[in-house]
Amino acid sequence: MRLEELSREAMIRSVADGREGSAMMAFDSVLNRAEIEAVVDYVRTVFIAGNGINTRYHIPENGWENHQRYASAFPFATGEIALDAPLDQLTPEQRTGRQLFVTSCVTCHDRSKVNDEGELWNPRAVSFPRGGYSNKAAVLDGVAVASKIDALSSATPFSRHEIAPQIEGLTSQEQLGEEIFQANCAFCHGATGTGRNWVGSFLQPHPRDLTDAEAMRGMTHQHLTKVIAEGLAETTMPAWRGVLNVDEIDAVAAYVMRAFVPHDE
Ligand code: HEC
Ligand code: HEC
Repeated sequence: MRLEELSREAMIRSVADGREGSAMMAFDSVLNRAEIEAVVDYVRTVFIAGNGINTRYHIPENGWENHQRYASAFPFATGEIALDAPLDQLTPEQRTGRQLFVTSCVTCHDRSKVNDEGELWNPRAVSFPRGGYSNKAAVLDGVAVASKIDALSSATPFSRHEIAPQIEGLTSQEQLGEEIFQANCAFCHGATGTGRNWVGSFLQPHPRDLTDAEAMRGMTHQHLTKVIAEGLAETTMPAWRGVLNVDEIDAVAAYVMRAFVPHDE
């Protein structure tokens, strides 16, 4: 629908009731009727009718002199041409525009249109501030680490908590547990179980130091399997029962017990 055809009533309805299937929430419990009408009238006057300066971005007032000179990149910003359209189907001008788009416009416009969206859901850490980090365990110089450590983080005090302890004679169950722990748990708990890795240091509450005798006093295999399966309320400790099966939870508990929890000799 063209903006000019959008009626005041339809806008009031959208603000009051929200738009199902979108991030637009219902405001009827937040704003009263007069407030909803006022905000709709503001949007209508300033943005739709007024086409005010603050409604358009690429204008000299915002530092974009002669935006028209980037016209070759416009179709990629508006989504007219998909960013992953085969290069050999583009004219030379469109190719130049695409190049300009990916170097200078993509930061704000993202990929306004792509034909192949790729994976919708890929369970990877995105906020972990290290290049190429993956949750998958890797082996570096014969040592299991949570992930390949990049040059930056290996210069930080966190990285020594990314190196799994080397333990002789793990049973096959404990080995499975090690794999699972280093791939799934080390992200928060550190490969050392101390929680003094990067992510662990920022969580509130912190994951406790699984190697600390005081914190782990009286810990039993049974308690571990319960916590791992069910998670811990009001912490970021997830429930794993939908991810790991009973044997895997048993294995990771066995590994935690063997690798981290101090035992009175
Ligand atoms: C700093 C962020 C930013 C950058 C960088 C940026 N844009 Fe935009 N662009 C915007 C915003 C914000 C809008 C307004 C979006 C809206 O109203 O939907 C916009 C709108 C547009 C539009 C549609 C309407 C119009 O004003 O013409 C085009 C075309 C466009 N940008 C092209 C480009 C091109 C080409 C580049 C790279 C040379 C670029 N943009 C870089 C933020 C940016
Ligand atoms: C998203 C972060 C995160 C992940 C991933 C995570 N944990 Fe936790 N874990 C925590 C936090 C936070 C706590 C709660 C603070 C505390 O008491 O230690 C916790 C607590 C624990 C405890 C102590 C519970 C208790 O009651 O004594 C154990 C054991 C534990 N986690 C094991 C694991 C195992 C095994 C995995 C992998 C299967 C795992 N965690 C994955 C964040 C995480």
